[in-house]
Amino acid sequence: MTKQARTIYVCQSCGCQAPKWMGRCPDCGRWDSMVEETSRPSGKRTGPSGISQAQTIDAISLAHEMRLKTGIAEFDRTLGGGVVPGSMVLIGGDPGIGKSTLVLQVLERLSRQGCRALYLSGEESPQQIRLRADRLAVHSDNLYVVTGTCIEDFLEKMDSLKPDLLAVDSIQTVYTDTIDSAPGSIGQVREVASRLMALAKQSGVPVFLVGHVTKEGSIAGPKVLEHLVDTVLYFEGDRGHVFRILRSVKNRFGSTNEIGVFEMKDSGLTEVANPSRIFLEERPENVPGSVVIPCLEGTRPLLVEIQALVGPSPLGMPRRTAIGVDHNRISLLVAVLGKKMVMELIDQDIFVNVAGGLKVDEPAADLGIVSAMMSSFLDKPVDRNLVMFGEVGLAGEIRGVSQPDMRIREAKKLGFSRCLLSQSNKEGSSPVKNMELVGVESIEDVYNLLFIPNA
Ligand code: TYD
Ligand code: MG
Repeated sequence: MTKQARTIYVCQSCGCQAPKWMGRCPDCGRWDSMVEETSRPSGKRTGPSGISQAQTIDAISLAHEMRLKTGIAEFDRTLGGGVVPGSMVLIGGDPGIGKSTLVLQVLERLSRQGCRALYLSGEESPQQIRLRADRLAVHSDNLYVVTGTCIEDFLEKMDSLKPDLLAVDSIQTVYTDTIDSAPGSIGQVREVASRLMALAKQSGVPVFLVGHVTKEGSIAGPKVLEHLVDTVLYFEGDRGHVFRILRSVKNRFGSTNEIGVFEMKDSGLTEVANPSRIFLEERPENVPGSVVIPCLEGTRPLLVEIQALVGPSPLGMPRRTAIGVDHNRISLLVAVLGKKMVMELIDQDIFVNVAGGLKVDEPAADLGIVSAMMSSFLDKPVDRNLVMFGEVGLAGEIRGVSQPDMRIREAKKLGFSRCLLSQSNKEGSSPVKNMELVGVESIEDVYNLLFIPNA
């Protein structure tokens, strides 16, 4: 039986399908996001064919769990220890953040180890790619470049080249003939990605997909892609800063929330092996409003500096600006400070910033944010050898957070000698030489300890 081509309407935001056009997606509620698409099923299966034999879980061999190490330690770590054969990795990020640069550098490293790598680009001409390669000093006999936008053509090239490694830059520019809708639409992105996924699974060739991020911050063709691939990495950073963070948000072969830190230089991305040192390098000495906190990114502790500026507001509605931390968190902390009669900041303009363009979204940063605000308001600096972490509750209590030992060790490594933490964390962590642990129970304790001499 041959299937008829049929017209469907697909929400470009969530992938919801409907037989009729609607002004508003019934699933995600977005307006004007339904786009007409025609699917002309070929009748041929594109997914991996056949099913495996039933076997007990212990009998499944682990032999193929062999990872390709790129030698770029930050990248390998983010993937959970290297590239898994047959896996599909999506690398998302804002335009111009350095996705193509990263992929090219990764391909080069692997091609130098004897893998035949193929870079498919739908965005740039071979000359442009060569220019970038020259800039990055990327040279390899084993790295092939193909430009174009039709996936069928690509797959043909693949048959003749037989690469061990494939990168597609970017998934939104590549289209398939079997669907009529425009490149970059949800139907196209899904179809192309599933074709590549089938290829990866059948041939064991790892595939890297580069994906653009929409204004809302998700990868265009969003959830559909994230469900399909094995690993999703986000490449983020502030364009005004040189640091780039590669974050794993989904990983079928490792833990998520791992990060890799890179620096964008004239000659490409270089690894930053000790990010804490770099993020603290330009910390001002004895300045009010500056506090260092050890936060945790996946399994990795990172010291960052929180800066606050608090001053009387000339406006009826004081300003609250938060860069790198959650805006609502600031309002909550200001309310707690007022309610506990520690400090009234309600009529103050408050600016909070995480130095170095990092984002911190752990509650463990609360204590640092609150202390930085108090320090700026009082115009009294916090001891420069002190770090702090802990969550602040609505009753003004300081709560314990996960992995205190790891945070304390990182602070010790960078030369800090005192650590402010919740009483419960203090009791739960082992003593460290040359590191004084100070347990606090409430926001009043923190205030007294930091700003009232000899309290
Ligand atoms: P690119 O990898 O093209 O970004 P994406 O693929 O994510 O759009 O990198 C773009 C930016 O990186 C560009 O603004 C210039 C900068 N850059 C460097 O600073 N050094 C370099 O060696 C390279 C290749 C790019
Ligand atoms: Mg690019």
